Amino acid sequence: MCAPASGPSPRGCEGRGPRLAVAIRLEPAGPVRARLRVPGDKSISHRALILNALARGRAAVRNLAPGADVAATVDALAALGVRLEHENGGGAARTVRVTGGGRWCSDASLDARNSGTTARLLLGVLAPRADGAVVLTGDASLARRPMARVVDPLRRMGAEIAEHGAPGRLPLAVTGRQLVGRAHRLPVASAQVKSALLLAGLAADGATTIEEPGPSRDHTERMLAAMGARIGAGGAPAADALPGSAALRLDPGPLQAIDVEVPGDLSSAAPFLALAAAREGSEIEIEGVGLNPTRAGFLAVLRRMGALVETELDAAEPEPQGSVRVTGAPLAGTEIGAGEVPALVDELPLLALLATQAHGVTRVTGAKELRVKESDRIAAIVKGLRRMGASIEPLDDGFVVEGPTPLDGAVFDAAGDHRIAMALAIAALLARGPSELEGEEWVAISFPRFFEELEAAARGPAVRGRA
Ligand code: S3P
Repeated sequence: MCAPASGPSPRGCEGRGPRLAVAIRLEPAGPVRARLRVPGDKSISHRALILNALARGRAAVRNLAPGADVAATVDALAALGVRLEHENGGGAARTVRVTGGGRWCSDASLDARNSGTTARLLLGVLAPRADGAVVLTGDASLARRPMARVVDPLRRMGAEIAEHGAPGRLPLAVTGRQLVGRAHRLPVASAQVKSALLLAGLAADGATTIEEPGPSRDHTERMLAAMGARIGAGGAPAADALPGSAALRLDPGPLQAIDVEVPGDLSSAAPFLALAAAREGSEIEIEGVGLNPTRAGFLAVLRRMGALVETELDAAEPEPQGSVRVTGAPLAGTEIGAGEVPALVDELPLLALLATQAHGVTRVTGAKELRVKESDRIAAIVKGLRRMGASIEPLDDGFVVEGPTPLDGAVFDAAGDHRIAMALAIAALLARGPSELEGEEWVAISFPRFFEELEAAARGPAVRGRA
């Protein structure tokens, strides 16, 4: 059965953004000591749903990310005819059983809403599999984001993708075609692009190889290997590749469904860890969180800036996970360059905030990707932090911050972006006076209960063993 593509959107997070701007008042907080868990990882949740939908068999995805982005993937797969059973019923379900291997509906029109991962991964799914033409759309923010980075290499594999709007933007109509495996050299390190090509390559004729300019998150490769795909090293990377880059090779073939226990999302843990890092006397521990090294660049930078960061690994396969504890200490400025960016790209607004509290200059370069995220994150974080009195200069591909500066309370806007909403909320807690944040409801994209958890953490129990 083919269900309608659009499910309910989170409070106000549809179309061009919130219709009725909601503002939240945030008071300064003292040192924070808390232990908590964060919701399931968004990147891993998308992949667990999509890969199991492509696989033979039925599998359970547990601790699924609760936000609107993953709901967009759930609804799109349902509209394509994938059987999804929600345990505990409805959109609040945290366990979804996926039955893969079905036929894809030909008449579907899919709305990826605000979710770049949904849109880009589905392009790779549909290119060799759509039974007829499937139109993919998104909200106003997603319709501004670049899709050519996925469409161009898919076309080189033989994909038929028609642009229904501006070149290289959604809406796009994908008609399933037999694809041919190709050797791809990506101009940007992007896990979304890499994953789309791997999903297409599974059903292509011949091998697909992918070389990135730097190592992006490897959740797709790990899950594919666990599901029996023939995936491995694809030869030596080019001489000008950044350290840690590796070429990948995937041979087409079937997948076997696997149960996935999604670890907590390190990007959802990061605002809490930043809050602890910024204040001496603060300590926050997050349990059951993903610690995949291709995602954990934020922790390395916190350490380098002077915070005490302790991690304990509970499991290494298929995804490293465990607990992390951050203790605040005087911070020092640092340099972050292109090689480090993919492993912390979603945490850069928080690092801009921490830089305002650090002694000396922090310089971030090689992060032009921030300009094409859910908002222009360089412009949005510079605007927000300047309102609070911070010394921060935008660069074309990053920013320069001079610290430390005490932050004043301010009235600011989330810019329709969940990561900016969370970074500014943490900034408000570190300020000297009250702040007002408009667009707080955008946190529902990845972390609907963010403010409840933040409030609880600010008055939470002492961290184990350190009362
Ligand atoms: C993601 C990859 C990153 C990241 C995004 C999630 C993913 O984007 O910023 O939040 O799940 O693959 P890029 O692939 O564009 O770098």
